[in-house]
Amino acid sequence: MKRFFLTTAIDYVNSRPHLGTAYEKVCADVIARYKRLAGFDTRFLMGDDEHSQNVYKQAIEQSLDPLAYCDQMEQVFRTAWRHLDVSFDDFIRTTEPRHRTGTTYLAQRIYDAGDIYEGVYEGWYCVSCEEFKQEKDLVDGNCPLHPTLKPEWIREKNYFFRLSKYQQPLLDHFRDHPEFMQPDTRRNEILRLIEGGLVDISMSRAGQSWGIPLPWDPSSVVYVWFDALINYASAVGLGAPEDTGRQMFERWWPADLHIVGKDITRFHAVFWPAMLMSAKLPVPRQVFGHGFMTINGQRMSKTLGTIIDPIEAANRLGVDPLRLYLVKEVSFGGDGDFSWERFDERYNVDLANNLGNLVSRVSAMAARYRSGAVRPTGARSDQLVRIAEQVVADYRRAMDAFMLHEGAAAAYRLIDATNEFIAATAPWTLAKDPASADRLTEVLFDAAEAIRLAAVLLAPIMPASSREILRRVGVSAEGLTLDRDGRWRADGERVLAQEGPLWPRKEQTIVTDNQTQAPSTPAPGTTPGTAAPGTPAPQSSDRISIDDFMKVEMRVAKVLAAERVPKSNKLLKLQVDAGTEHRTLVAGIAEAYEPDALVGKTVVIVFNLKPAKLMGIESNGMVLAASPDGGQPRVVTFEDPPPPGSRVR
Ligand code: MSP
Repeated sequence: MKRFFLTTAIDYVNSRPHLGTAYEKVCADVIARYKRLAGFDTRFLMGDDEHSQNVYKQAIEQSLDPLAYCDQMEQVFRTAWRHLDVSFDDFIRTTEPRHRTGTTYLAQRIYDAGDIYEGVYEGWYCVSCEEFKQEKDLVDGNCPLHPTLKPEWIREKNYFFRLSKYQQPLLDHFRDHPEFMQPDTRRNEILRLIEGGLVDISMSRAGQSWGIPLPWDPSSVVYVWFDALINYASAVGLGAPEDTGRQMFERWWPADLHIVGKDITRFHAVFWPAMLMSAKLPVPRQVFGHGFMTINGQRMSKTLGTIIDPIEAANRLGVDPLRLYLVKEVSFGGDGDFSWERFDERYNVDLANNLGNLVSRVSAMAARYRSGAVRPTGARSDQLVRIAEQVVADYRRAMDAFMLHEGAAAAYRLIDATNEFIAATAPWTLAKDPASADRLTEVLFDAAEAIRLAAVLLAPIMPASSREILRRVGVSAEGLTLDRDGRWRADGERVLAQEGPLWPRKEQTIVTDNQTQAPSTPAPGTTPGTAAPGTPAPQSSDRISIDDFMKVEMRVAKVLAAERVPKSNKLLKLQVDAGTEHRTLVAGIAEAYEPDALVGKTVVIVFNLKPAKLMGIESNGMVLAASPDGGQPRVVTFEDPPPPGSRVR
C-alpha cells in the first residue's frame, strides 16, 4: 500500500489556538482524510512547540512550572483540534523524551559532519519571532511583524550551523525537484533568497535552561527553531535506540508533505533540508506554504483584538459549516478572509438552501411517491452520470494537487447539476402519469445516487455531515474508498430517510466593524433589525406567537410562465416551480409588471394558502410583494436566488 506522511507546523503554546492556526490544521486534515479516501496508508502528525522563550515567560507569569504550563496547554490544543474533527494520528510535544532523543541525535550527526562551529553572535533577536534579525530585516529599528516590541540586542556564545555550505546543494535540489516547494509563487521567493546568498545561522542559545542541552556542550541549549524542525523526524523514531524506532523511521521518513504558513517557509525549505543534507538523511518530499487568514480584512492580532476563537466559530453554525467555509472560500495557498456575515451568508447559500435543501427534497419526494424506497429501473439519466464522472475526475485532479477549494467546487458542481436535474425532470409531474412510474423511480434513484457521490467527495471536508447524508440516502459510510465509492453506482434498492433539515437557515446578521465576537443568535425564526421608519411597533398584545407565524409556509418559487388574466387590469396568472411541484397562482401585480419580465425570476409564495378562485382561475398560493403607500406593488425577490422549494421564514 502506498504511504503518505504529512505534518502541520507545531504551535507555540504561549497563546491559545485561533482561527489562523485552526485554518492550517483543518486544511491539513482535509488532505489527510482525502489521502485515506484515496487508499493511502496515511500518517498525520501535529504537535506543540514548547521550548520557546515566550512559552517560558508565560509560565513564569502564571507562577507555573514551564512543563506544568505546557501540560495544561496541550489539553487546550488537543481539545480544540478534536472539536474541529481534526484526525491527527500522532501529536508530538518538543518536551517529550522521544523528541529530545531525535534532536540530540541529529545535532550530534551534524556536529560530527563538521558543520557546526563555535562563535559569538552579536546582533538583534526578536523574541516573538524567535529569530535572529539582521539590521536590514528591521523597519525603523523594529521587527516588521512585531512593530510594538523592540528586538533585543544580544551578545552571546553561539554554535553556528554552516548553512552557507548548502547553498549549491539546495539550488540543485530546487532545480531537480520543482515540486519541493509549493505553490510556485512561494517557491520563487525561496529560490531568490537562496540565490541571494546564505549566511551561517546560530543553532544554540547560551545561558538558558529551557531547551534541549547540546550533547557536546550542555551549558547551551538547541536554538528553538533548530529544535522544532526536528519534531517531524523524531516523531517517527529518529535516533531511537531500539529496533521498533528504527523500523518506524525507515517506514515513514522522509515526510511526504509539510504544511506550514507562508511566514515560516524559509525555515522549512532552506534550514531544514540543509540540516538533513548535512546529517546525510533524506529531505522531505514537499513543503506547502499556505496563506494567512485575516478577520474583516485585518491581520489577526491580540493587540488589535482581531482574534477569533475557532471553537466559538464552530459552535455558531457547526463544525462542518466552518470547515467548508475555510476550504471553499479560500484558494489554498493564497490569503483568505473571515467575517461573521460572510460565514452566515455562505452557510445559507451552500448548506441550508443548496445541499441541505436538495437532500430534504429528494428524501421527501422518495417518501411521498415511493414510500422511501428507490431503485434503478433501467433508464438512467446519462447526462447526470456524465457530469458526475467529469466532477469526480476534476475533484481527484484538484485534490491531488492540494487545490482544496477546487475540490470543494467540483463537488458543488454535482450538487448544482442535481438540482437542475430535478427541475428539468419534474418528478411531481411524472407522479401524475402512471405510464411514467418507472421513469419516476429512476429519476429519484439517480438524484439520490448523485447526492451519495457528492457526499463521498465532501467526506474529507465535512466528515460528520457526509456520514449523515450517506445514512439519509440509505448507504453505509464505513470504510469509504474513492476507487469503489467515488463512481456512479446503480446497485440496487436504497431506502431514504426523511428527517428534519440538515442545516436550518440562519437569519442574516448585522455585524459592526471589527466585531470578532460572534454576534448573538436571535431567537429561532426571528430576524434581527428594526421595523421600517415610521411604522409604529406593534403593542405586545397585538403580536403573534412564533407558533402562529410558523403556520404560514412560505417558499421560494421560480416563475416559469406569466400572462395577463383576460378582462383584468390588475391580475397576472403565474406558473411557478415550488420545488416539489408546479403551481398556478393569480397575483395582483399586473399594473407594476409586464408578464415577460417576471419569467425566470425567483419569488416568495405562501405555499399553504387555501385555493381561491379569482376571475374564474384557481389560485394556489400567494406571491409576496411590498405595497408601498400610493406606490405600485414590488415583488420580493433575491439577489442570490436559493433553489425553488426552500423554506422562507
Ligand atoms: N512554532 C512555530 C512553527 C514550528 S514548525 C517546526 C510557529 N508557531 S505559530 O504558533 O506561530 O504558528 C503555527 C502555524 O500557524 C504556522 O504555520 C503559522 O504560519 C500559522 N499561522 C499563524 N497565524 C496564521 C494566520 N493568521 N493564518 C493562517 N495561518 C497562520 O510558527
